[in-house]
Amino acid sequence: MAPEPSVSLRRAVPGDLPRLAELSERLADFGPPGWRSAREIVEGELRTIRRHLESPLPGAELFVAEAGDGVAAGSGATVTAESRAKIVGFVFVETLTDYFTERPHGHVGILTVARESQGRGVGAALMRFAEDWARGRGFSTMTLNVFDGNARARRVYERLGYSPETLRYIKALR
Ligand SMILES: CC(C)(COP(=O)(O)OP(=O)(O)OC[C@H]1O[C@@H](n2cnc3c(N)ncnc32)[C@H](O)[C@@H]1OP(=O)(O)O)[C@@H](O)C(=O)NCCC(=O)NCCS
Repeated sequence: MAPEPSVSLRRAVPGDLPRLAELSERLADFGPPGWRSAREIVEGELRTIRRHLESPLPGAELFVAEAGDGVAAGSGATVTAESRAKIVGFVFVETLTDYFTERPHGHVGILTVARESQGRGVGAALMRFAEDWARGRGFSTMTLNVFDGNARARRVYERLGYSPETLRYIKALR
């Protein structure tokens, strides 16, 4: 596992969609449970990404990580086809309201890294960036949802200091 040489982050633009769709295929790689198809997981996440790229959702941001030199997050610099090909991961962050306190907080809605870039710190870099975004908005907590069976992602989150809070139970009704 070679370390990722350098990753830079910027806001996603509509032209990134084809690459984001490719990377979204990974979101069901962990092996969904019997009542949930891989297609519905990927399509569900892509729906959010498409909507956000068409018209930014309030309180949300979509950031991409590029291998090598890129443009700074938030910059309006031109994004070329070449730089799009270098996208190795992305994170979608949202503003949610805490059910108990009704206070706003950051939420990692979607996180994915290209298979060939896994295990080099790209996921951790995207998470740190997401946390900085949340701190910048004055939030004191960050949440995320992860499938129970996604052991790899859960390990990464736990290494980064996240703990399970509530557990969502589901039962297939016949
Ligand atoms: C989950 C996911 C985002 C993690 O991304 P990642 O880039 O592989 O994560 P990192 O590289 O930051 O961390 C992974 C491991 O590499 C290690 N690592 C981090 N930086 C490293 C480096 N420079 N060199 C070597 N290893 C490193 C970490 O310690 C971590 O080890 P662990 O798995 O034993 O905890 C990625 O596996 C993924 O996209 N999975 C498919 C989609 C998915 O399931 N997304 C989450 C949905 S909730």
